[in-house]
Amino acid sequence: KMKHIIMDVDTGHDDAVAIALAGGLNDEIIIDGFIATAGNQIREYTLENTLNLTEALEMEAPVFAGSIGPLLRDRVLAGNIHGANGFEGPVFEKRKKKECMGNGIRWAIDHVLSHPGEITFVSVGPWTDLAVCLKSDERFASSLKEIVLMGGAVDHPGNVTPSAEFNVFADPEAAEIVFDSGVPITFFPLDVTLKLLLTQEVLDKVKKLPESRYKNIFLASMGFYVPSLLKAHGEMPAMHDPCTIAYLYDPSIFKYSYRPISVETKGDKTYGKTIGGKEDKNSTTKMAVDVDTDKFWALFFKAVKNLV
Ligand code: RIB
Ligand code: CA
Repeated sequence: KMKHIIMDVDTGHDDAVAIALAGGLNDEIIIDGFIATAGNQIREYTLENTLNLTEALEMEAPVFAGSIGPLLRDRVLAGNIHGANGFEGPVFEKRKKKECMGNGIRWAIDHVLSHPGEITFVSVGPWTDLAVCLKSDERFASSLKEIVLMGGAVDHPGNVTPSAEFNVFADPEAAEIVFDSGVPITFFPLDVTLKLLLTQEVLDKVKKLPESRYKNIFLASMGFYVPSLLKAHGEMPAMHDPCTIAYLYDPSIFKYSYRPISVETKGDKTYGKTIGGKEDKNSTTKMAVDVDTDKFWALFFKAVKNLV
């Protein structure tokens, strides 16, 4: 059965891999729309990056503008990792695709309410837009099929502070609203995403692929992202955001732990920490804790074959 998703992104390098993966797996995944939020860079840039990438990949889904910043805290960005425009590396031709007019949050609420039980909301940037949707209409939560998230760090240090991972750190109050929503949630914290690093072997395999637009976009983006991550964290880039799409296509790629999650919103040094409760099979929230990296990369190359 086809899975209809809304993808909320702060396109960035790993968001772009998640978008391409979803585009290549369109035999089972249908993207009903994108919402570009502030995160890796300001919303103007994440919107631009999402429009450029989806046009280049001939992905028809509408792209809406989302939030310009977090609910309460000061806005934090990740230009130090993703570069000045948020997606440094690829160069795109002057595009024709325009953002879909109207606020992405209003569109997402209307879309989910008119398709009760059918839409999965995927968030791979700060979860501000999702939180606003949840707070805007009491029917939204119960109309969603599932929430799938990249973010958090439970039994693992953060990547912005020792406590907090970027997507949650960028809007901890939004994360608290999401985890308290009661909607079935599957999320991919650093505990699992940092087990899925890009390798030289994968890069070499991509280089051997037949020429395609996506091959050039991927290699140009990793040409920036790899040295950026090696410099910032001393390791190859993790495929954080693509985990969400790989899960939707083949849940067997990951192993899960069912745990209630709370978010630190009052702490000074621990602001944005995601705290895991005890394993509880009745929890509506499950976190991925392990990944079969060979199965993930096999899925990636399967998807790339379907891209222009
Ligand atoms: O911490 C990783 C997350 O922050 C990813 O979504 C990456 O794109 C950045 O937004
Ligand atoms: Ca992201």
